[in-house]
Amino acid sequence: MDVYEAVTSRRSVRGFKDKPVAMEILERVLAAAAWSPSGSNIQPWNTYVMTGAPLAELKTSAVERVAHGDAWDKRQYEMYPSVLKPPYGERRSAFGKERYSALGIAREDWEARQRAAIANWNCFGAPAALFCYIDRDLGLPQWADVGMYLQTVMLLLRAEGLHSCPQMAWSQVRETVAEVLSPPDGLILFCGMSIGYEDPAVSYARTGRAPLAETVTFIGE
Ligand SMILES: Cc1cc2nc3c(=O)[nH]c(=O)nc-3n(C[C@H](O)[C@H](O)[C@H](O)COP(=O)(O)O)c2cc1C
Repeated sequence: MDVYEAVTSRRSVRGFKDKPVAMEILERVLAAAAWSPSGSNIQPWNTYVMTGAPLAELKTSAVERVAHGDAWDKRQYEMYPSVLKPPYGERRSAFGKERYSALGIAREDWEARQRAAIANWNCFGAPAALFCYIDRDLGLPQWADVGMYLQTVMLLLRAEGLHSCPQMAWSQVRETVAEVLSPPDGLILFCGMSIGYEDPAVSYARTGRAPLAETVTFIGE
């Protein structure tokens, strides 16, 4: 698979088969992803990989907790600004419409939306997940480094025939995750990522992108 194909075939998959992912594949992917760039090569990512019984237990606890309506854990970072100004707010609304219409869920059907959201904490059925932490004392450029690293992981997963879904949703129940992982003090859970083989029976809408001229300016010939 060439890089263009890896980039264009990567998408956030939200329906996985329960076929296990071999640990040697995950090790190969994460060893290669370690070659991601980072400012001054500080490699600010701290990754935990979970499969098998510990992941099954985590999914059960998280889903039960969310279904029960428990409050989210105190935020360690804001997922979005409280007001998303144009054009970001419009893009977010367009994404919501695409996602819920693919699932056949009406905008006002709050319960169905809630059920779809809860699938996050079941990892959409994926048999493997990673949880990526960053040190609380690091700054914005290091968060960007972590983003590059996670995209590298997702592209390498494509090369292995695997799919993924990055999930900030896991940060909302970070204490439940911490009960299983016991991360050192001072680490912030940025996101989880579901990993596995796509279940082609699950319908989806490919998310669109803004026209190139909206996000890129070319200067010169
Ligand atoms: C940092 C990050 C966090 C995300 N968190 C979630 C999440 O919690 N749940 C989810 O279903 N999708 C999540 N997504 C997926 C985005 O919705 C998705 O990337 C976006 O809509 C573009 O679609 P695509 O990835 O299929 O191209 C996240 C993506 C990123 C990069």
